Amino acid sequence: MHLPNSNNEKICEMRNAVIKGIEAYLPEYVLTNQELTTMMDTSDEWITTRTGIKERRILKGEALGTSYMGAKAVEKLLQSTGTNPEEIDTVICATVTPDMPFPATANIISDKCHILNAWGYDINAGCSGFIFSFATIASMIKAGTARKVVLVCGEKMSSIVDYGDRTTAPLFGDAAVAMLIEASDDDNGLIDCDMHVDGVGRRFLYQKAGGSKYPATMETVAEHAHYIFQEGRTVFRYAVTNMGNTTQTVMSRNGLTMDNVDFFIPHQANIRIIQAIQQQLNLPDEKLLINIDRFGNTAGTSIPLVLWDYKERFRKGDNILMSAFGAGFTWGTLYYKWGI
Ligand code: UT7
Repeated sequence: MHLPNSNNEKICEMRNAVIKGIEAYLPEYVLTNQELTTMMDTSDEWITTRTGIKERRILKGEALGTSYMGAKAVEKLLQSTGTNPEEIDTVICATVTPDMPFPATANIISDKCHILNAWGYDINAGCSGFIFSFATIASMIKAGTARKVVLVCGEKMSSIVDYGDRTTAPLFGDAAVAMLIEASDDDNGLIDCDMHVDGVGRRFLYQKAGGSKYPATMETVAEHAHYIFQEGRTVFRYAVTNMGNTTQTVMSRNGLTMDNVDFFIPHQANIRIIQAIQQQLNLPDEKLLINIDRFGNTAGTSIPLVLWDYKERFRKGDNILMSAFGAGFTWGTLYYKWGI
């Protein structure tokens, strides 16, 4: 592996991974609840009260995939952080909606953004994509095998949503967020993480066809098997229990209470899941960050989209907890100290 360091000495000894810059790309098209009522048997009132979502962004246009949004976010990131693309050594893309099964969307984004000296790959961890990817990158940074990393979280969920299925269609939106991650030169950055998988979840939230088990056929297309299937109530129950537990685990082993946590950012799947966890944690409203009303569920992109949205509010050293739950099942929590 190439590291842009001529001596190849170990770059950082047990240093925290810190976000040095964060940028987002949001497609222009706003799909409102009102418009959804013209497409399926639903209402603004049902969607708002059952999910908290009012609108979501949709990427329109022929042959535009996740890499299109990811590359736009990375271009902004390189510009705003004054980074030369050739300095980047690692590109990770967290996505469940890659442009295609292979090559990795990370590779396509690298090509589009002239990132020529990097290696990288995609991470598929459902809606925990950001949490798992950040923990992975933090390990690389601690080990000294990466020093300037671009993490792109991007989803074109509209490409796998069945707009004939009113139980899943209102939930999801498209977006991409790119972050520049480096070793911290102080005590900020990723402090702790707690992560889990449980394959029981594969029965309740999946995209059945398009992989090696059920390759695309006329039948899989006719059965709508290339779209998201979700048994919502079951996923809801697992999400509340597991996000609550993993957050409490991280809090107790780091001596955190609601007095010293500055912000809590949950995965933006459903306002009722978020409120149930808020109640469990006894979390005051002003510490809970949400934007589900404007962007819906953007899977592994949802937590970084909140980070980006609220970044002006954070101060160096703020204690931020981020917790996700998604397909797999996958779930986990990061304890992060804002570092810019
Ligand atoms: O991000 C990955 C993890 N995913 C999640 O965390 C999502 C977890 N699940 C959920 O957020 C919720 O379960 C949903 C939002 C998916 C569904 O909400 P729910 O309160 O669990 O509704 P339900 O599935 O129990 O359905 C209640 C009723 C049903 O009608 P009946 O059988 O009671 O007559 C549905 O047919 O609501 C009906 N319904 C709708 N009505 C109007 C379902 N979708 C709609 C709709 N508009 N869009």
